[in-house]
Amino acid sequence: MKTRITELLGIKYPVVQGAMAWIAEHHLAASVSAAGGLGIIAGGAAPVDFIRDEIRKARALTDKPLGMNIMLLSPNADDLAQLAIDEKIEVLTTGAGNPGKYMENWKQAGIKVMPVVASVALAKRMERAGADAVIAEGMEGGGHIGELTTMPLVPQVVDAVSIPVIAAGGIADGRGMAAALMLGAEGVQCGTVFLATPECQISEKYKDLVLKASDIATVVTGRPSGHPVRALKTPLQRKCLELEKHVDNRSLEEIEAATAGSLRKAVQDGNYEEGTFMSGQIAGMLKELHPCADVISGMTAQAEELLKNAYKRFA
Ligand SMILES: Cc1cc2nc3c(=O)[nH]c(=O)nc-3n(C[C@H](O)[C@H](O)[C@H](O)COP(=O)(O)O)c2cc1C
Repeated sequence: MKTRITELLGIKYPVVQGAMAWIAEHHLAASVSAAGGLGIIAGGAAPVDFIRDEIRKARALTDKPLGMNIMLLSPNADDLAQLAIDEKIEVLTTGAGNPGKYMENWKQAGIKVMPVVASVALAKRMERAGADAVIAEGMEGGGHIGELTTMPLVPQVVDAVSIPVIAAGGIADGRGMAAALMLGAEGVQCGTVFLATPECQISEKYKDLVLKASDIATVVTGRPSGHPVRALKTPLQRKCLELEKHVDNRSLEEIEAATAGSLRKAVQDGNYEEGTFMSGQIAGMLKELHPCADVISGMTAQAEELLKNAYKRFA
């Protein structure tokens, strides 16, 4: 399947593995890139040396294009911006902020830049700043989210910019991918489906919770503090929802204290009581583990088949 995204990124399938802090490390990213998608190492707030190590370990596993994500509000964003240049990263995705001040240096280094956006206004601003593509992310997805769902967001972004658009949020098979392509996207970014792969290095408990999740298993917390997060409904999320019913300084501080480091507790320790198990709504559809290569090629083959034969359904 050829789109402007496969051409731009030099990849076989228009499937990007979304950044996931503490999760998107070298095993996962290299497996996705080796399988013909685009693997992404998540920068998060991790130390620069750690990320450099992850990039080099991924490079040792595959010579295919590799991406990295920078959360622009993180304290080490400047250092990560330089690291991407030093390590000759092919593609950068960015979140939480405006990459404008780095753009010239990244362009000179030949890096393709794809900011994650949750609104039309931000997509336009990113195009003006020189982005090569944008990732329009709907709030069905796991992790930090915006307000719009994928279905209304993607076509509005597609209409507003001339650079290619990648759809994210709620996509885990060829049906979702075909729908995204029909909305005008030229690629998809998935996070949750890659939690259910053998290559993903999260705790067994985390994988188990994703595979057992129902359609209504996720909740959004953090709206009062302005940083909404979608995660599986576990004891910590229930506690946050309770505290959010009566918001004051004390409850916000209590939430902050309870959630600090909680994704790491889920990822590394499988700590059911204190962990935040970030996940998108599409977890309800994932019933068993599949290798990254099968996820990517299977999704694309199914989308192609559906799109090619769509006319028969309505003839
Ligand atoms: C566990 C988890 C952690 C995430 N962490 C990040 C992150 O650190 N940075 C980021 O830009 N997006 C993050 N995301 C969003 C993903 O990159 C991706 O856009 C999203 O998962 C797509 O929606 P889906 O979950 O329905 O596939 C995260 C998603 C999940 C599920």
